[in-house]
Amino acid sequence: MRRSGGDSLKKETKVLWAGRLPEKPGAEAFAFQASIGVDSRLVFDDITGSKAHAAMLGRQGIISKDAAAKIGRELDRVAAELKSGKLAIDTSAEDIHSFIEGVLTGRLGDAGRMLHAGRSRNDQVAVDFRLYLKRAVPELRAELAETIGVLLDRAEKHAACIMPGYTHLQRAQPVTLGYHLTAWCAALERDFSRFACALSRLDECPLGSGALAGSGLPLDRNVVAEALGFARPGFNSMDSVADRDFALELSSCCAITMVHLSRFCEDVVLWASEEFNFIELAEAWSTGSSIMPQKKNPDFAELIRGKAGRTAGNLVTLLTLLKGLPYAYDKDLQEDKESLFDSLDTLRSCLRMFRGMMRDAQFNLKRMKDACSGGFLEATDAAEYLVRKGLPFRKAHEIAALIVRDCIEAGQRRISDRSPAELKARSKLFGDDIYKALNPEACVKARSLPGGPAPKEVRRQIRALRKKIR
Ligand code: ARG
Repeated sequence: MRRSGGDSLKKETKVLWAGRLPEKPGAEAFAFQASIGVDSRLVFDDITGSKAHAAMLGRQGIISKDAAAKIGRELDRVAAELKSGKLAIDTSAEDIHSFIEGVLTGRLGDAGRMLHAGRSRNDQVAVDFRLYLKRAVPELRAELAETIGVLLDRAEKHAACIMPGYTHLQRAQPVTLGYHLTAWCAALERDFSRFACALSRLDECPLGSGALAGSGLPLDRNVVAEALGFARPGFNSMDSVADRDFALELSSCCAITMVHLSRFCEDVVLWASEEFNFIELAEAWSTGSSIMPQKKNPDFAELIRGKAGRTAGNLVTLLTLLKGLPYAYDKDLQEDKESLFDSLDTLRSCLRMFRGMMRDAQFNLKRMKDACSGGFLEATDAAEYLVRKGLPFRKAHEIAALIVRDCIEAGQRRISDRSPAELKARSKLFGDDIYKALNPEACVKARSLPGGPAPKEVRRQIRALRKKIR
């Protein structure tokens, strides 16, 4: 017998489409088009979807009540056996859908063969994927919430600990460590809500869509959607089997969250350097060098930063996969799951690693505070002092800048190193109260607007974020 794709397959591995194509692809070609290696993680979702479909077929009189009950019971048994290890997934099957149907048919004969009425693997894979995500994404959101919680605990503890804030990686204005960590949390909280939005849009049940054009059988789509916990059945069946924008959205959610983590990790890598020396990572969250005995490297932070690249790549993979695909289902779509699963897995592990690393890190608070003194971080506050005394801001900015130049010329490192007379020579508006206004704690405390770094305001932000992730 002629074989198109290499060695012949074992005779007993019968495919679902053997009626039309008795000649099967060769082993290598068959493995190439199979997806069991990836979609076996959908096994319990596939069983759940099949149970709901079978029960509906029985209720609608499309198959006998007896057959529906038999299928339901056998599917439960199969699930239990898979969980206990009594039954293993046959990795030579084409995909998880054919594996489950094969087991069922092997055990029940014709009753098993009745299950696929009014159904296609196209709507089956769409429902499995969505059911899986409806479980996995809330778990991921819980990981996010826990991560935010750890950061907020640290932020609360350090709400009043002064540190430099940076723009262009140059010291800019004094802020607090609590404020910096709360900024991270504000970004992660948006990710937390972004995932929820994406979930609400994918909450439609594709079953009943068939291959693309629904079914002439009297299926009850509402009942199936409800049984599976979906908000509603899919609106348009062709869309239901062709759409993967739910995967795109979630892939994007993952990539965005990873980009956030990557930026935080870049901060951590900088802070852990001798030059900054703001953070002491725990030994258990550091690695050494094979050659340089003194090294203590922030590998976890670096790896999280690196893995953000993978999730960005996965998003581009999906976008590229979908671009130009003719409606409705195309086998290209089989590539969707590997990419999204990888992003979900990557984000999950990165959240866990980042959380542990940050929970156990020690901050070098003295060093952070000292870094606020000597880089003229108080210059903006000096200008605002003059504005409060009635000077237009542009003039105040210029005077503060001239004073900074005076200091540099005189080898002084802070505006408060200037004498009252020297300051008054630049502006008569300077009084003795300027010195108090320029100390970093006072600068931070004065910036108490909503969203600002004043410790009281940071504590309010922390409370608000805690409420949002609850
Ligand atoms: N393994 C396929 C996927 O992941 C399932 C759907 C197959 N449908 C088909 N008509 N070949 O997309």
